[in-house]
Amino acid sequence: MIDFKALAQNYGTPLYVYDFDAMSAQFESLKEAFRGRKSILAYAVKANSNLSVVKHFAQEGAGADCVSIGEVRRALLAGVPKYRILFSGVGKRDDEIREAIEADILYINVESEAELGRVELIARELGKEARISIRVNPNIDPKTHPYISTGLHDNKFGVEIDAAKRMYIQAKNSANLDPVGIHFHIGSQLTELEPIYEAAVIVADLLRSLQAIDIELKFFDIGGGLGVRYNDETTITPYDYAQAILAALKGLDVTIVCEPGRFLTANAGYFLTKVLYEKRNGAKRFVVVDGAMNDLIRPSLYKAYHRIEALEKTGDVSVADVVGPVCESGDFLAKEYPLPLMEHNDLLVVHSAGAYGFGMGSNYNTRGRSAEVAVEKGQDRLIRRRETFDDVIACERDYL
Ligand code: LLP
Repeated sequence: MIDFKALAQNYGTPLYVYDFDAMSAQFESLKEAFRGRKSILAYAVKANSNLSVVKHFAQEGAGADCVSIGEVRRALLAGVPKYRILFSGVGKRDDEIREAIEADILYINVESEAELGRVELIARELGKEARISIRVNPNIDPKTHPYISTGLHDNKFGVEIDAAKRMYIQAKNSANLDPVGIHFHIGSQLTELEPIYEAAVIVADLLRSLQAIDIELKFFDIGGGLGVRYNDETTITPYDYAQAILAALKGLDVTIVCEPGRFLTANAGYFLTKVLYEKRNGAKRFVVVDGAMNDLIRPSLYKAYHRIEALEKTGDVSVADVVGPVCESGDFLAKEYPLPLMEHNDLLVVHSAGAYGFGMGSNYNTRGRSAEVAVEKGQDRLIRRRETFDDVIACERDYL
């Protein structure tokens, strides 16, 4: 049991708390599901990019799926071996491509014909052969929130099958490109297996048709997206997930690369915030807290549900909007949430905040970002200090 009260007292609020043992347990469960198969679990750094979190997964044997050169640098700094680092993303700059090739990472996931041209050119300038994988858009509806759906032609991600074929042929014929993998990622917070299986079948068929023209790919990259329980969702078990992928891959000897983010971190993270005031506007009840949309934007951005626990509070509940100090009506952590009557300094624990929480934070309203704390084997430690006012203005003050 994590002593949230003590942590809030020691480190202050708002505060992110991560249970590193819970992260390990999630990692192990996924690893177990792919046991006996060649596989790489490349942690999607964007979900929670704190260096200590990335290092924790590196020590478990994870690779890293990165979407900017900043994330690649983080992964290297945290001790992820370069041969387990991938670089994905729809808009890579030339300097990012150059640095990734020079860093000799496992492969670059290429997302357009134009990008393939840039990668080839830059590799030629460097006198190198760039290992690449192509992100295929299988045109599958993943049945998740439209903002985090990525596998439809309507979405900006990946290329169509025909374009992918052309690109693999171009890569095979190039002295500066080494096609080693194939990639898809249809969306995030997936709770249905069928779309993943369908996508895997489409991409595995493409892989077979490439083999027929002598293009041998080693890595079958299934992206991330495994959903978690925020409320009462039914989720996909790691076992069923792995079985569906293996069924699609029947007869193919490939290394499976998986890019889980949320699955590894979401439910291992908590956001602690203190009550400032109770207030009413007419019949409407508000609980005003010291955490806000700049700390945790998921409720505002996606109307995402996060369970909220009023620590050590009992008594009759009534619904309230839990709102922060930011000057936006969209600044809320929950709407119409049943809570007992709260008092100044009472503690609220916002659950499932370990993925896309801190990382999507900002300094909006000149609010310093929260501190982050790791709890591991009963011990807690700071893994990011709270930002000060000086931190927030650091990039501006010299220009006054
Ligand atoms: N691989 C690729 C290519 C991705 O685009 C993503 C997530 C992942 C892996 C990791 O997906 P995960 O396993 O975490 O579902 N901010 C949103 C989620 C955005 C996901 C973006 N891509 C949220 O808070 O729900």
